[in-house]
Amino acid sequence: MADHATDRRTAIAEVAPGIHRLSSYHEPWRSSINGYLLTGTEPTLISTGMRSHFDDTWNAIARVLDPSTLRWIVILHFEADECGALNEFLARAPHAETLASMRAAMASLADFAVRPVRGVGDGEAIAAGERTLRVIDAPYVHAWDGIMLVEERTQIAFTGDLFLQPGHVDAIIRDDRSSLSVQLYRTFYGTPPEVPLQRVLDRVEASAPTLLAPGHGSVLAGNLAPYYRAYRQSVSALAALRPLAEGTRPRRRVDDDASPRPPSLSRERD
Ligand SMILES: [Fe+2]
Ligand SMILES: [Fe+2]
Repeated sequence: MADHATDRRTAIAEVAPGIHRLSSYHEPWRSSINGYLLTGTEPTLISTGMRSHFDDTWNAIARVLDPSTLRWIVILHFEADECGALNEFLARAPHAETLASMRAAMASLADFAVRPVRGVGDGEAIAAGERTLRVIDAPYVHAWDGIMLVEERTQIAFTGDLFLQPGHVDAIIRDDRSSLSVQLYRTFYGTPPEVPLQRVLDRVEASAPTLLAPGHGSVLAGNLAPYYRAYRQSVSALAALRPLAEGTRPRRRVDDDASPRPPSLSRERD
């Protein structure tokens, strides 16, 4: 693993042969915003990072290859840290094509991007030169329009905001930060809906990743089982409590609710 730029704003580190983590520290979040550069005959960028980080990201990529030769840009969901710099990349990488979920392409990127965006479906194999990226549809796991990817040669899973952690210095960690990851996820995004989350965890785990490469924090190596377990437990614990909580509430008659009330962000008092 080579870290080419620990002293600059955007670091680039090779985390597996030909796969580089781009890491821009974002102070408000106390974490990195990560993109991933995949080298080869068809260089691929997974997530562009924010527009405000574009120059640094471009220069970091240039330490590995000519960024204007990028062939594919894959957007994991539509948010500023995932695709804020997309149009800057498209302007300077004339052969780059953008791929995203059908939802992100149709609802957001078709208007946002300066060139057409191709939507990819669940299970689709994206051929990027000698690499294949398998798409895992991940709606409502953090983002309603999300996908994740598994690079089939190295079995690295690119998981977007799932498995995120704070900090930015270590390109790869092997120690167990699963509790911290779940805590941060729930602080930022709330509790993910159980069924989509369990489904995505099943799919990611079944692909037997060697590394989990999230959009924030370090790439995770070693025993990854605690991460799957911690995320599963984070929703199954709530599900187990739900019938208990419902059983302790006084039952309301139907006509008590004649006029609908708006949902409240504060705790229910009845
Ligand atoms: Fe996100
Ligand atoms: Fe993110």
